[in-house]
Amino acid sequence: MLAVTSALVLNAAAAPGAMPTPPSQMLVLGMHHAGTSIVSNLTMMMGAYGGEMNELLLHPENPLKFWERKDVVALDEQRLSAGLEEAVSERYDIPDWVAYGFNALKQATPIHETDAAKAIVRKLNTKRPWVTKDPRMCLVAKEWVELLDAPLCIIMHREPLSVANSMMIYSHNVSLAEWASVYDAYYNSAVRACADKPTVVVQHSDLMAQPYEAVKKLYTQLVAAGVQGLTLPSEAQVNRLVRPTEEHKLKPYYLASERKQVGELSRSISAELSQGRATVPAAASKWVHAERKPNEAIVTLLTTPNTDYLRGALVLGSSIRSFDSSRDMVCMVTAAVPKEWHSSLSVAGWKVLVVDELAEMWWGKSAECSNFAADQGERWGHMATKLRLWQMTQYERVMYLDADSVLTAPVAKLFESIHTFAAEAPRYHSHFNAGVLLLSPSEKVFQELLALGKQEHATLFGNTIDCTEQALLNTYFNGQPGREVTKLPVGRADVVADWNNAETAPFAVHWITHVCPKPWLVADGSEQVASHCDPIVYAYWQRIWNRLTASSKDESSSHSFGPREAARRKLRRLTGVSAGPSLVGSAKPRHYASVSDVLADVRDSVGRQLRQLTMSRRELRRRKYEYDAPWSEGTWAWIAIIGTLALGLGAGALLHKIFIKAPTEVRKGMTVVQAKSMGFRPLGEGKGPVGVVSAVDDDDDEDEEDEEEEEPQKPAKGKK
Ligand SMILES: *[C@@H]1O[C@H](CO)[C@@H](O)[C@H](O)[C@H]1NC(C)=O
Ligand SMILES: *[C@@H]1O[C@H](CO)[C@@H](O)[C@H](O)[C@H]1NC(C)=O
Repeated sequence: MLAVTSALVLNAAAAPGAMPTPPSQMLVLGMHHAGTSIVSNLTMMMGAYGGEMNELLLHPENPLKFWERKDVVALDEQRLSAGLEEAVSERYDIPDWVAYGFNALKQATPIHETDAAKAIVRKLNTKRPWVTKDPRMCLVAKEWVELLDAPLCIIMHREPLSVANSMMIYSHNVSLAEWASVYDAYYNSAVRACADKPTVVVQHSDLMAQPYEAVKKLYTQLVAAGVQGLTLPSEAQVNRLVRPTEEHKLKPYYLASERKQVGELSRSISAELSQGRATVPAAASKWVHAERKPNEAIVTLLTTPNTDYLRGALVLGSSIRSFDSSRDMVCMVTAAVPKEWHSSLSVAGWKVLVVDELAEMWWGKSAECSNFAADQGERWGHMATKLRLWQMTQYERVMYLDADSVLTAPVAKLFESIHTFAAEAPRYHSHFNAGVLLLSPSEKVFQELLALGKQEHATLFGNTIDCTEQALLNTYFNGQPGREVTKLPVGRADVVADWNNAETAPFAVHWITHVCPKPWLVADGSEQVASHCDPIVYAYWQRIWNRLTASSKDESSSHSFGPREAARRKLRRLTGVSAGPSLVGSAKPRHYASVSDVLADVRDSVGRQLRQLTMSRRELRRRKYEYDAPWSEGTWAWIAIIGTLALGLGAGALLHKIFIKAPTEVRKGMTVVQAKSMGFRPLGEGKGPVGVVSAVDDDDDEDEEDEEEEEPQKPAKGKK
């Protein structure tokens, strides 16, 4: 607070002339997911002018998105795409609105030289004080500021790793490091644009934890900076927009290895901003441009239609992507895996590779190899297919991880430093586990493994493991020249690690035994984490699961969802969850004051669904953000209600709304787990891992999901 005030005084003093003009042109700057929408709304509540209704991008479902001007966004988009460095932007599959690879110095017409920008500012200037926002504006704020005679910057600050983590939903192709470089670029540029201008920094965490306190502080700072004509909104008004979030949700635990993905520059900008100081950093920001490693891949395998393992593979995939944007991620699947899972797997970054199942060598083939529990057979009885890793000769090196494991650190160093076959170090025997492997594909080795499998199995473990691929691999990789084994220190849920130490913490965790429950069971609340199990690995798995299932639909863009929202919806349906909490903003929960409110909501929702179902896809996409349908939601609702009565169409959704959603707050954006913890009963067991709330998220019912089906995969080289 003190720091901010003195910064203001300094800035004011720096202005030439005696009486500085009171600031009356407010730019809300900050990265996506940092709370810029909320603060824009708040300044408007205070009386700042944001524009006329028809000038704004309207989001019927998200009042928080109300305040982006179409013309400003369009100009910013145009300017940003003109300034892209193709070599950087084309390296990644990342939504255009991020402007990854923007270079302000590249030859292009700057904003302040366009008539459109001048006209926008002229129009806004008739109603001072005014406010405008667009996260992308960070990158071009300097050019906008050129046109302003009395600017003031409001910079929204949020901790970089939280922003990066939440941005992961928008691309299955980039890691935390790239998102952290977006953070650098946005804030570095914003802070430079605001360097000699009055600036107020708002802490996202303050705003979320104690909204009204934060609003009072913002108001005081704006008034102190000289902004005139504002009034402090009432607490009730503010509470209608933002509700306090519990402390622990604001500061999730990040592993030291994740924290290391955030560069020094983002960390120092953030450290200054968190003290309220918009300090210009010494260095210019730099977009991460990671080297591709086309000869290396990280692979997992699915062989059953068991959705628990689908969820495992999804979290594993996203955890790999957190740390690695260089290597291909390949999920081998057999025909037993439903085809409709493929698009979900791609959401997590996997390329799906369909392979023929390989017959077991020993499992189930003799009396001693038939003595297993059914659930063991389901997984272990199909693991011979793992040998197909050696057929992936399109790669030189392959790291394999079982679907019930998760990556917790980068693996580049392992690829660089290990040249032998490598496998998960065991805890209770002297061999190795086959849950995590690093290997060089080779058709020759593949054939030798098959040949070995035709012989009697050895007795290494003295139990059914002797009948599995793990025994086969242990027999083959026996330490002889060319068959050396490096043991990989993989973590386990039943061994507590020090996650604050990136040097000693394991690079992966494998749920290898049943001593600690599988993470999905804990995520669903069907089992508790026992005291001997590492709570951090469960929290980590859960955070990544939440990130994967979160909705990305509200992003501030005039034309795009996260590019894979349709596939994400399908993912949620297949795994039986509703949309996780939106990571985009804290959308306002619904409160129903009366039955007529409930009915109004039902009507709107059904109307929306029907409208969307009947619109062509392209039109739908265009309209998602510019809500200018010629027929109002109400009109559609009546059609929907009549339709419901006549045809039964949407009747399920209607009943669901009335009987399940209404009484408390099961709302869109709530996970099944949350719904369960609020006492909602499963609607029927056996419909996926959790049968609760089949339709809490309206959008799961949308008929849009097939458009993102993955391309057919080429068969692996060497496959028969
Ligand atoms: C990410 O996307 C880019 C652009 O489409 C592509 O060239 C690259 O191979 C992808 N990276 C990975 C690791 O798949
Ligand atoms: C801000 O948000 C509230 C609550 O969602 C909404 O009703 C209002 O129209 C928005 N704008 C202003 C200026 O208050």
